[in-house]
Amino acid sequence: MTDPNGLAAGDGPPPGCPAHADAVPLSGLEYQQTPSQLYRSLRREHGTVAPILLDGGIPAWLVLGYSEVSYVTGHDELFARDSRRWNQWDSIPADWPLLPFVGYQPSVLFTEGAEHQRRAGVISEALEAVDQFELAHMCREIAEGLIDAFAGSGHAELMAAYAHALPMRAVVRLCGMPADGVDTDDLVRDLRISLDAAEGDDPVAAYLRVQDRIERLVKDKRNSPGADITSRMLTHPAGLTDEEVVQDLITVIAAAQQPTANWICNTLRLLLTDDRFALNVSGGRLSVGQALNEVLWLDTPTQNFVGRWAVRDTQLGGRHIKAGDCLVLGLAAANTDPQIWPEGHIGPENSAHLSFSNGEHRCPYPAPLLADVIARTAIETLLERLPDVVLAVEPDELTWRPSIWMRGLTSLPVEFTPVVR
Ligand code: HEM
Repeated sequence: MTDPNGLAAGDGPPPGCPAHADAVPLSGLEYQQTPSQLYRSLRREHGTVAPILLDGGIPAWLVLGYSEVSYVTGHDELFARDSRRWNQWDSIPADWPLLPFVGYQPSVLFTEGAEHQRRAGVISEALEAVDQFELAHMCREIAEGLIDAFAGSGHAELMAAYAHALPMRAVVRLCGMPADGVDTDDLVRDLRISLDAAEGDDPVAAYLRVQDRIERLVKDKRNSPGADITSRMLTHPAGLTDEEVVQDLITVIAAAQQPTANWICNTLRLLLTDDRFALNVSGGRLSVGQALNEVLWLDTPTQNFVGRWAVRDTQLGGRHIKAGDCLVLGLAAANTDPQIWPEGHIGPENSAHLSFSNGEHRCPYPAPLLADVIARTAIETLLERLPDVVLAVEPDELTWRPSIWMRGLTSLPVEFTPVVR
């Protein structure tokens, strides 16, 4: 039997684990719909570092304080990224739902120290060569094509038809896949399934097809390089092997797709539901910029990130953390930490949020700028093409996806006057 939080009777932290009897399960309906309330009550009851239970009752710490998240991410010699350090692997079943994201893979994500600098440096330099004006132009072209497919009908479900589709198409093209064609469409579909499987999908088979397609792309670009991210990674003086480039390309694509898609969707939701934006929605560039920034503060896409693993016994937020304990970065909670922001903190110029994390493993420069170009172009193009777009349901009928990582809607149905080109 399971309780409303998805915990089976008898589940719970094994003896001697860091999360004590009062640990709070980080799952369940209440959490999915109103995580900010849960963060508030966790902060009240437990302070800035709370004992939590991940799926299946696996204990971990949720770091809720802005200073504490900054400290953990700024001290990778103490809180490291290689998940093989975890002291809970014996309790984790082979079908654990978080395994695809937390289980060790030989990608940049799980490297540490000099090896991380080498791998992340290659990614940053490959991304730096992306021309932001060309990217905006490409995103507009992709956006126009996606909108054309539903503009004549007067209604659309924007999550699937737009917010998810656009960043995925943009990023695979940046990596050197052709603009269209069966191969690119198959890759986009398999990426969607592997990152965000719906009922009946086989995410493992889809992931293997993605890996196979990226391996072929790397081989092709090794033979004839072009002006794309893949070729720049292959020809970088750090001398990454083909296997390393495959792993890191998949990481770049996956790391770009989900958060950027949810950034687009959460911003569209804000624009379509909040009266402060309603008056200038179709015209105001500033309004779109403000909405994008406000979402990073209050509805950030990567709300929690799993995580960091303690290298040795230490203290954090008054808690005793044991070597090998898992710390979940509570990025959304840290952004609204009342100790740091007692007066509120949002303004168009203020970007001191932790939505792109911090420290050595933060979202690598210039990825946040590229994500901003993709998200801004997606939203502006939609509002220009469909100026009278409105929600097709009441705002309180919108539901959030059941994910501890990502803050994003299950669907965003809209209506508008049909437009025929
Ligand atoms: C073009 C779009 C993007 C690209 C190419 C990209 C790329 C990446 C890569 C490669 C990493 C791994 C860094 C490492 O382990 O060294 C990463 C991490 C991360 N990214 Fe991004 N990203 C994009 C958009 C976003 C967006 C929109 C958000 C959220 C608003 C975001 C939030 C994060 C966070 C929270 C991490 C984890 C950092 C940590 O471990 O502390 N990213 N990203």
